[in-house]
This record gives sequence, structure tokens and C-alpha cells, in this order.
Amino acid sequence: MERENHSMAGVYWKRPLVITHGRGACLYDGDGREYIDCTSNYGVAITGHCHPRVVEAIRDQAEKLLSCHGTFYNEARSGLLERLTEVAPRGLEKAFLSNSGTEAVEFALKLARRSSGKPGIIATMGAFHGKTMGALSATWSKKYRTPFMPLVPGFRHVPYGNIERLEGAIDDETAAVIVEPIQGESGINVPPADYLPRLRELCDERGVLLILDEIQTGLGRTGKMFACQHSGVEPDIMCIAKALASGLPMGATLATEKVMSTLKIGDHSSTFGGGPVACAAACATIDVLREERLPERAAENGEYLMARLRGLQEKHGIVREARGMGLMVGLELRFDILKVLLGALERGVLLLDAGRTVVRMIPPLIIERGQIDMAVSVLDEVLGEEEAARLRR
Ligand SMILES: Cc1ncc(COP(=O)(O)O)c(C=O)c1O
Repeated sequence: MERENHSMAGVYWKRPLVITHGRGACLYDGDGREYIDCTSNYGVAITGHCHPRVVEAIRDQAEKLLSCHGTFYNEARSGLLERLTEVAPRGLEKAFLSNSGTEAVEFALKLARRSSGKPGIIATMGAFHGKTMGALSATWSKKYRTPFMPLVPGFRHVPYGNIERLEGAIDDETAAVIVEPIQGESGINVPPADYLPRLRELCDERGVLLILDEIQTGLGRTGKMFACQHSGVEPDIMCIAKALASGLPMGATLATEKVMSTLKIGDHSSTFGGGPVACAAACATIDVLREERLPERAAENGEYLMARLRGLQEKHGIVREARGMGLMVGLELRFDILKVLLGALERGVLLLDAGRTVVRMIPPLIIERGQIDMAVSVLDEVLGEEEAARLRR
């Protein structure tokens, strides 16, 4: 801890916990203490920590070949491309493979400009798309943006969930609209059910590309393989990352043939993108998601978790709302949640924040009912204590 505090760029708030290993929905510290992980390490460990199938695929591939540039062919990569086309919304037949969410978004933005010949991108208030300069220009939070001005020109933000305001913002210079199907970082904001279908219609009418950022919502998290599949919406471009390789760095930007075919050789590249070990891990991840029916499991256990959280909302006056979809849920409190996160950690449950006032739970999709019950009862206890402390003040 001392070494990290001393030598690491100070861009993360650190939890007082050294994690040594993980298994399933649990993480462990050096004393062997078990923690129920409702963070999935920020949405990554979707198949659980160290799923045997994923570990085996990584080990097998590592013994054969560690790197293989995109200018060569490789079987692990073609295996992943085949699986991506099988699970993706219809029409997304092409992919660019990268190493993170923000890179998947960078590529999507460049692709939208290249394909439309226009510079304008419309994003939404509250959006989070990453922190490299292009993705940051689409991200909303002033805290993240202001110190790094000037950002990339041509970006505008409109209220999330509001089609009329979006319609008013589209002009002759607009290349694309980029949205998260559910906003994750800014508070698990679920838009009205007709938002994505109306957005698709509007983009078609106005000849504007629709980019969906499924980096947090994708790969089974919300109860379908991709969140847009709840409403049958097919984007022109879709970004995925986080859970894609169950923990190895990987991002992917999928697009239709029509859009992707506008790129020329050299327009974009990545030395590590589509490397064989990450591809092997991603193949195993998609196989596990399908064979173990993890999206369906997320839908069922998500409903169960939501019912339990609604119970907490009824019991504790300090809870404003429980909301979410599948195993992507948020509990909004009436105050800053930092103490709640730390109180739960002390009791063996790892939770995430989403904005200042929302406790976010995005556990591995293999989490069991008993573990959900334990996490909720710890939350119940911590909320009770916090409520009592507030009454005493
Ligand atoms: C919706 C969304 N887009 C993009 C990103 C950026 O991904 P990364 O941290 O891998 O760059 C995130 C990360 O939280 C995200 O939730």
C-alpha cells in the first residue's frame, strides 16, 4: 500500500484493501478474508473471477503465441470475430479490436466522422464514454473535462432520455449521436422504454449515425447479451469493452459493413489490438455467457436483487430510489455514499459508487442468491447505522 501510495499517479481514490486472489463472485485479501464482490472490478469480471474456462483458454494460448499484429492472420482472432457476429445485434458484421473502453469509443468517433464526412457528435448530459481526448469530449462531467480544455471541437450535449431536445440539436454538420443504453457512471439512469427506438427512428430520418456505448451494459449485464436487444434497436456502431475478455484488456467497436467500408488502410491501428491471448479469453467469455445462460441468469437474479433493494427503500428513509435493469442496479441515497461503501467493505461486501449519491451494484453474473442475500443484509445494516447516526446529529 505504501509503495502504491508513494509511486502511483494520484488519479484514483484508494480503498484500504489489498486483493490477492479471486474466485467466482468473491475476492480475498492477504489474510484470506472473503469479500462478496458487487463491483466485478468495475464491470469486468462478468463470468466471475478466474472462471476455469477463461483461465484455461488464456493458459493454452499463452503457451502457443503471446502477440500477433493485426497485419497477420490468427485463429484466436478469427474465432472471436465469428462469435462477435453471432451475438451482436443484426447488421454489425465488422469489428475493430482494441484494448479498452475509451479506445473503442475513440475508434467509433473517428469512424463516424470518416463515414459521414461530417464533424458533429451529439452526446448526452451525464454521459460517460472514457477519458482520452476524443472520448472525454463526449463525456459530460465538468470535473473530468475542465482541467483539460480545449477538447475536441464539434461535440454537443443534450438531456439524456429527451428525444425532442436531441432532434433540435441535429444539424447539417451532425455525423452521429452517441448514447449509453443505461447511463452507468452518472447514477444508473434508465431512460424511458421508447427512448432507443425513437432515437433509431430519428437518426434514420435525419441521416445521422447511431453509436451505442455498451461498454458497461453489454455482454449480459442487463439481462440480454446487449441492452439494445431489449427494444430490438440495431445501432450503426457499437462499443464494447470491460467484460469482453473477463479481465484482460480488450475493447471492440462493431459496425455495419456500409459504415466500416468507408475506412482506408492506415486510418486507424493498434499494436496490441486483437492480440491472441485477449482474443482467446474473449472467445471463452462469450462461450461461457452462452452456455451457462448468464444473461438469462442476470435477468432473474436482477429481479430478485431489485425486489430486495425496494425492501430497503421502504425500510430506510435515507434511500431515495432503487433502479436498474438485470444485474446493473443502483440505490440512490439522500446524501454522499462514501461512508456506506467503506462500512460495507469492513463487513466483507464490495460496492461501487455512481455519482456522489448512488450505490452501484454490478456483481459477476454467476453470483448466487445466498451471496445476494448477504450483500443486501450488510447494506441493510450499514444503512441502519448511518440513519441512526444522522438522527443523533
Ligand atoms: C459506458 C462507458 N464507456 C466507456 C468507458 C471507458 O472504459 P475504459 O475505462 O476501459 O477506458 C466506461 C468505463 O467505465 C463506461 O462505463
